[in-house]
Amino acid sequence: MKCLWKNARHVGYMTDGSPNFSLAALQMFLSHFRLSEKTMDLAWEVFDYRRRRQSELIYKRIGVSGEKEQKTGVSLREIYDMETKAIQYRAEARYDKGIEGHGSSEELDDLETRLKGGERYLALFCEFPGNSMLKCPDLKRIKRLADAYDFAVVVDETIGNSIDVHVLPHADVVVSSLTKIFSGDCNVMGGSAILNPQGRYYQQLKSAFEADYEDNYWAEDIMFMERNSRDFVTRIKKINDNAEAICSVLQGHALVKEVYYPKYSPTKQFYDDCRTPAGGYGGLLSFTFHKKNHAVAFFDRIETTKGPSLGTNFTLTSPYVLLAHYREFDWAAGFGVPADLLRISVGVEDEEDLKSRFATALKAAEAVGL
Ligand SMILES: Cc1ncc(COP(=O)(O)O)c(C=O)c1O
Repeated sequence: MKCLWKNARHVGYMTDGSPNFSLAALQMFLSHFRLSEKTMDLAWEVFDYRRRRQSELIYKRIGVSGEKEQKTGVSLREIYDMETKAIQYRAEARYDKGIEGHGSSEELDDLETRLKGGERYLALFCEFPGNSMLKCPDLKRIKRLADAYDFAVVVDETIGNSIDVHVLPHADVVVSSLTKIFSGDCNVMGGSAILNPQGRYYQQLKSAFEADYEDNYWAEDIMFMERNSRDFVTRIKKINDNAEAICSVLQGHALVKEVYYPKYSPTKQFYDDCRTPAGGYGGLLSFTFHKKNHAVAFFDRIETTKGPSLGTNFTLTSPYVLLAHYREFDWAAGFGVPADLLRISVGVEDEEDLKSRFATALKAAEAVGL
């Protein structure tokens, strides 16, 4: 553990010496620390309400048929699905949400109006940049609102990474999945939470973390994480360059409709507000084709590893929305996230080799015709 944190501090911006925490632990912790009894009660009410509704639904169907459950067509699968949804709903209800969806300035306008009108929030959670459209929220403004209306800000900078962006001044807690590019080798998992010593909740958070802390990180995992992270800085530089190279291959192609990358996003200014002096724009990008069959042909042909994760040292291509939102395309589309989006997590391969692999896959898309 110590090694990891020494290393983390060495790379620049981990100003606090707090021990490593998993994101799950942070969430549990925040739920204990900040959420009021009232919120918890509400969560249970919501949960119970949904359970009741589900039971009613099931029993109604049983009642109508007048037969036993097995014969009514209410399958175990359905019950399981409903139960899962209810649990998810309960989990969501446990957190007060300051903002949802795009993380856009319009939504911040709305949040500000609600705050001015007397609504109060305990904490605002956001990613920087957001997955998978790579847009950034205006962290400076969020900080101003947090100061004015007294709520905590928790920023997940996994996608940004601490070499490229420095978000701590705008947050109370910065969380990061070290499973991703901090490690890069995808043979170990880990998470971190950095507390802002200048944050208004620092003392409370620090003592709560200390009270909660349990050193249960497996010894070999620590060794792998530390070893993998040694060249974090140089890998990030390479990945930034590769990502920009891939963006230019894609942007220059007639079949490609849109490329999403922090550098080309309408929210670039918000990214730049937090960009480190030598920082780049990271290793995650998404893009769409004008036509779905071009996306399919590209995906089938592209010679990278295919998978749903991100932040590996090798390039990964993912039909992210298909995998993550298969049952809710309309919902995703409501946030401007198209079903046939392709997400690329860029690795450290040779730039020319990567470019040619992308060019070959684009040719396969061309071969489909218009
Ligand atoms: C932005 C972001 N934060 C956190 C996580 C969770 O990471 P872990 O798998 O280390 O718990 C992920 C995983 O995909 C992620 O994409």
